Amino acid sequence: MAVSLSINGDAYTYHGDPLTPLVDVLRNEALLTGTKAVCGEGFCGACMVHLDGKPTVSCLCPVGLVAGLNVTTIESIAAGDVLNPIQQALEDLDAVQCGMCFPGIVMTLTAFLDQNPNADRAALKAALSGNICRCTGYERIIDAALVAMMNTERPE
Ligand code: FES
Ligand code: FES
Repeated sequence: MAVSLSINGDAYTYHGDPLTPLVDVLRNEALLTGTKAVCGEGFCGACMVHLDGKPTVSCLCPVGLVAGLNVTTIESIAAGDVLNPIQQALEDLDAVQCGMCFPGIVMTLTAFLDQNPNADRAALKAALSGNICRCTGYERIIDAALVAMMNTERPE
């Protein structure tokens, strides 16, 4: 069966079982390996992508359910060589350790800060409740999100 969708703005057609998890299509078929498959059960957040702008765990999402939607992955979050504000702040604050969780964290925070540009520390912690990081203790990630908010120009 063919499933047509858009990935990072490009038309894409998957030929295969529509029950295949989206993360497997992204990684194994579209060769976009920035999205990580860690738990495969929906609780770690490493496989987070945006579906029409909404953060969604791609390991629990059959590809057949995203027909006609636009999937955004970590590969398109930067503007060419220019990191997005969250990526830049994470790098500047040296927040990344093993890095396995970070594609998902960037996808979560990018969508969250778009909707909540004045979020406080508590709100950021809550926003990250679906993203497990075993390495960092989160505090520097939240510091980076606050820096990213300060560095993001918003329309008046
Ligand atoms: S791999 Fe999808 S939530 Fe963990
Ligand atoms: S940096 Fe290793 S899991 Fe988050």
